Amino acid sequence: MSRVAYVNGRYVPFADAAVHIEDRGYQFADGVYEVMAVRNGRLADLEPHLDRLDRSLAEIFMNTSMSRRALAVVLEEVVRRNRVIDGIIYLQMTRGVARRDHAFPDLSKTSLVVTARGMPPRPTAILEKGVNVITVPDIRWQRCDIKSISLLPNILAKQQAREAGAYEAWMVDEEDQITEGSSTNAWIVDDAGDLITRHLDNAILSGITRMVVSDLAMRQQRRLVERSFTLKEAEHAAEAFLTSTTSFVTPVVQINDTPVGGGAPGPVTRALYDLYEAHLSGQSTA
Ligand code: PDD
Repeated sequence: MSRVAYVNGRYVPFADAAVHIEDRGYQFADGVYEVMAVRNGRLADLEPHLDRLDRSLAEIFMNTSMSRRALAVVLEEVVRRNRVIDGIIYLQMTRGVARRDHAFPDLSKTSLVVTARGMPPRPTAILEKGVNVITVPDIRWQRCDIKSISLLPNILAKQQAREAGAYEAWMVDEEDQITEGSSTNAWIVDDAGDLITRHLDNAILSGITRMVVSDLAMRQQRRLVERSFTLKEAEHAAEAFLTSTTSFVTPVVQINDTPVGGGAPGPVTRALYDLYEAHLSGQSTA
């Protein structure tokens, strides 16, 4: 089946999908994006993703003439045209095409590109065995709360993880605190079974999976503590895991060379994984 992309008002064959070379996303990474899960053909957690998109747009002073309803229609149409049942959808908005000049252009129309693809079910080994992460210095800018398409430090961190045979790179700030992963949020579980994940500020992205998992955990009367934690604390944690739209809830069993939680996924992480799965499935049949 041939894939279809949405590019600035048109549904086009994926192979022909293109933007102008002076698109500010291409030249300056002047744009923002979202990645959403598709489950049973439906967009998961659409509203919070669109809320975060609105916030990202506002923080970079980018206006779009597209209403939320119109955007949702495009997203659903891209899912439908690509016949995605379980997978992801990617949307990117940039400040449009203009002669290269750092300052905002007077006249430019926001560019919107949307793609979708199916994703095979994750190998069960990931949940059964867990994954390892490495740590790298957090060299990013001071507005990591904006879901910017400018991702060079994240790319370099992920590549370093890949070359080290690790699933993810957790970033460590100058105070030795773990901020987040290159494309995931970082969590630990203490001996009392309490969940610890960094508080929201400009140093991390406010993950939608992080938000959903927090809600689900609290509904199970589990205590959630939003605060930063050090690498040392993570190494001694009872359990560790990471969350994102594409990684769901993934147990972390090793940080650098140190096994965490006896080197095997723990019960709290498993329970959260199940709750999150039920959330995704329940939502898509609603
Ligand atoms: N990444 N932190 C960073 C730096 C991220 O890039 C992401 C998401 C997250 C988790 O956010 P969410 O739960 O909303 O997916 C945290 C996406 C999946 C990506 O760039 O592909």
